[in-house]
Amino acid sequence: MDPNAGARRDFEQFWAQRADELLQWSRPWKEVCSGDFRSGSVAWFRGGQLNASVNCLDRHLSGGRRNKAALIWQGENDREVRAYTYQMLFSEVCRFANVLKKKGVKKGDCVGIYLPMVPELVVAVLACARIGAVHVVVFSGFSSVSLRDRLDQCQAKILITTDFATRAGRIIPLKPNADEAMDDCAAIEKCIVVRRQDRDINMELGRDSWYHLELAAADISACCPAETLDATDPLFVLYTAGVTGPPKPVTHGIGGYLVHALYSCREVFAPGDDDIFWCTADIGWITGHSYSIYGPLGLGGTVLQVEGVPLYPEPSRFWQIIEKFRVSILYTAPTVIRVLMRYGEGGGPAADLSSLRLLASVGETVNPGAWEWFKKLGAGEEVSLVDTWCQTETGGILLAPRAGCAREKPGSVAKPLPGIDIAVLDSTGGEADPDAPGHLVVRSPWPGMPLSFARSGATRPGDGIYSAAGYDTGDIVRRDGDGDLWIMGRLADIIQVGGHRLGTAEIEAALLAHPSVAEAAVVGIPDDEKGEAVYAYVTPQRNVAPTWRLLEDLRQHLARAIGPLASPEIIQFAAALPKTRSGKIIRHLLKKIAAGDMDAIGDLSALADPSVVTELIEGKKTASSKAG
Ligand code: WT7
Repeated sequence: MDPNAGARRDFEQFWAQRADELLQWSRPWKEVCSGDFRSGSVAWFRGGQLNASVNCLDRHLSGGRRNKAALIWQGENDREVRAYTYQMLFSEVCRFANVLKKKGVKKGDCVGIYLPMVPELVVAVLACARIGAVHVVVFSGFSSVSLRDRLDQCQAKILITTDFATRAGRIIPLKPNADEAMDDCAAIEKCIVVRRQDRDINMELGRDSWYHLELAAADISACCPAETLDATDPLFVLYTAGVTGPPKPVTHGIGGYLVHALYSCREVFAPGDDDIFWCTADIGWITGHSYSIYGPLGLGGTVLQVEGVPLYPEPSRFWQIIEKFRVSILYTAPTVIRVLMRYGEGGGPAADLSSLRLLASVGETVNPGAWEWFKKLGAGEEVSLVDTWCQTETGGILLAPRAGCAREKPGSVAKPLPGIDIAVLDSTGGEADPDAPGHLVVRSPWPGMPLSFARSGATRPGDGIYSAAGYDTGDIVRRDGDGDLWIMGRLADIIQVGGHRLGTAEIEAALLAHPSVAEAAVVGIPDDEKGEAVYAYVTPQRNVAPTWRLLEDLRQHLARAIGPLASPEIIQFAAALPKTRSGKIIRHLLKKIAAGDMDAIGDLSALADPSVVTELIEGKKTASSKAG
């Protein structure tokens, strides 16, 4: 008999119970978790059927929450507020689902969503879920090129976007980006545009139409039966930076993902019926999917969605919003905390923050200074602060102290949630010693795992690799004597700017696409506010002079090619880059030079030409930063 059979039975029973108590199924599953890492394929809740929008909306209509606020939206302009009860959100989702059907969207089709933080984004997501279409949300800060790459990769049929976005008081046309992207995406048939401004914008006849007119059409009913879908059908695709090459698609399935989103939301935040939950992450990232939509709405909670940036029109806005809506659970990122901290020095916020009962953070490690400051904001010692760890690939939080039972250690993500099996492995694959760094590996399947990883050609840890040992997250971590985990950073060439994951490979490819650039290497450097900032080394083409103009041009080029997030803090022109004899750029060396960590540079004997390093150290002194 299999000696692990008992443990496997307990594990499956644990998740079966969670799935049963958290979700409404139209047909029960036959198998909780089939397959394992060893066999190379895993499926959750095979045979089960359910619908995500039914679980987020319909079932609350008869459960006493029909008139409860599901979504409260605060626009960038303070006077712009909209509230949707569960009934109202349900009706709009049904109407929009009917619009999608009218446009020819079928089960399994990909629908691109390129919207800023407006309620229509939530409606569009849930409408896709209702009819079994796969939503592909692309962060509205991405450029037309990044949007095109993603829409093209998934062969989206429809794009939902808006005419203008507002950002810190500026009105930014978004439709032209969508137009440019759609020009190169043959699969796109229709584009639905949410109207935000009373201004003219290009609308292509036959392809583009207005969201509000589509909803109001006489043939659009507020009744749309939900499609019955398999637990293993895809719910959404989200793109994230991989170690090599272009952004990789991560596909999450309905059943497993929902169980994980609801379970982790309940376990970490324990939202009650009176809570107001504000997750500040944009819905373009996994945090927004799981903790602004599926988790809290699945649990019948009230979500606050806020448009705009924390400091506009003034630094106090963030606190005023908490006071105005009596926010009780605040889920944000260390970069936001640090920015607010910088402006909060003269005595901190004047607003009444006594409604806060739980503060949570995600995306990168919280430095103790920010932790202490953040914690003092609330009503003194009763407020707990939890640091949570998640990844696009994990679907939801895997590591976090659980609400109420936290023994707080600033900087630690505590332990895996019950049911999650992780290991810290050293480079030989053995369990790392206490306090020694190792790979964070998820040893057993978890329900929020993707339906499929892009496995093609990927051979490095952190690039979605399953092995018999489990899933290597690509993060380096240490476990202290109490068993608490401390995230030390990413192993691979990924830069975390303000908690957003950028692949160095994607930024380098964009730089290399510029006609004046011969070679480029990009690394991350520590940044007080953003956590990490982009540092680019550029070797210009032979006949091109390294001028200020070129620098400015490169910055703008990157902002256009990828988005303002990717614009380098510093660009250093370099006559040559350090390479191994086989011609590989040695990035870890460039990282040390960029960070000014000269003592750690060490042995240069592996370099094809060690004199390059001296030149780079000299060159760093005159490298140009954004500030000038
Ligand atoms: C990577 C995943 C926007 C938030 C979700 C990001 C890093 C995440 C923490 C944390 C230290 C963290 C990891 C991870 N990360 N949470 N609490 N402490 N690092 O999702 O874009 O897929 O990035 O974010 O390096 O691998 P993502």
